[in-house]
Amino acid sequence: MSFLQESSPVLSGMRLLESLVCQSGWSESCSSRTCEQTRASRPDAVASHLRLAKFLRLRYTPTMRAAWLTDIHLNFLTADARQTYYRSVGAQAPDVVLLTGDISEAPFLHEHLAELADALRCPVYFVLGNHDFYGDSIAAVRARLSPFCATHPSLSYLNACGVVPLTPNTALLGHDGWGDARLGDYWHSPIRLNDDRCIHDLVGLDAHARLATLHRLGEEAAQHLDRVLREAVAHFPHILLVTHVPPFHEACWYQGQMSDKHWLPFFCCGAVGAVLRDVMQAHPQIQLTVLCGHTHNAGTARILPNLVVHTGAAEYGHPSICEILPIR
Ligand SMILES: [Fe+2]
Ligand SMILES: [Fe+2]
Repeated sequence: MSFLQESSPVLSGMRLLESLVCQSGWSESCSSRTCEQTRASRPDAVASHLRLAKFLRLRYTPTMRAAWLTDIHLNFLTADARQTYYRSVGAQAPDVVLLTGDISEAPFLHEHLAELADALRCPVYFVLGNHDFYGDSIAAVRARLSPFCATHPSLSYLNACGVVPLTPNTALLGHDGWGDARLGDYWHSPIRLNDDRCIHDLVGLDAHARLATLHRLGEEAAQHLDRVLREAVAHFPHILLVTHVPPFHEACWYQGQMSDKHWLPFFCCGAVGAVLRDVMQAHPQIQLTVLCGHTHNAGTARILPNLVVHTGAAEYGHPSICEILPIR
């Protein structure tokens, strides 16, 4: 006798996991219509799941422990200090590491990600923050990550992934996000982030062109998350969403307060927040936990009964572990 209903999200999640493993090539003999359709229509998704499934097969357990790191800015550390930090994370023996952006800066990003992967020896799922693009363009940094992650199979860039089953109950998904100037008072804000000098896409733009770029980046994140979140809520009772920029004003913490109207345009991804609110209001039985960083100040905001956002603290030159999360 099964305790799981045919429509149970847990059972559905388990089937999706099996399906993803199957689609990724572990079961080459499978000729189900679903798998054949996926192979034909989404070869990119199949390729990314090939790496994920390898780890899921090796590490998949009913429960796991995730180490959440944010805004570690490894470029501010010496090589010795970076190794000391990696050892402190490894000492927690996490099953998986979740990194919510501002890992390093573009010229050092691959070197520092490779160090992390070598030192931790567990799957590392990450998104990028604005600092990770410093010294280059957004498209160039993102494009180089695909071949890089292909040669480092424990590293997965969530922008390039779909729904990642962690346990039968919990799925992981994510996107960088961006401070998209949809909230707050962009036109009267005196704030100018170093992004405007250090990210090629933003250098030399006037206020109108900058606003259009920020809107586009936020919309790109929202479209990705809208697609994968809707897929995830159909299969899992709990979803963990990893992003760099807080998606709600209530989650933009600074010294125990919410960011004011002048910081908010650059500290919040309003387009992503709108998507998350819409989807979760329509699925009150599903729980969504969001992990983010960017403001370097910790806080928790409950946006809906089924939607909570944790913002992680950080200090330049002193990276830490935000939390060890039990995942069931
Ligand atoms: Fe940061
Ligand atoms: Fe940031």
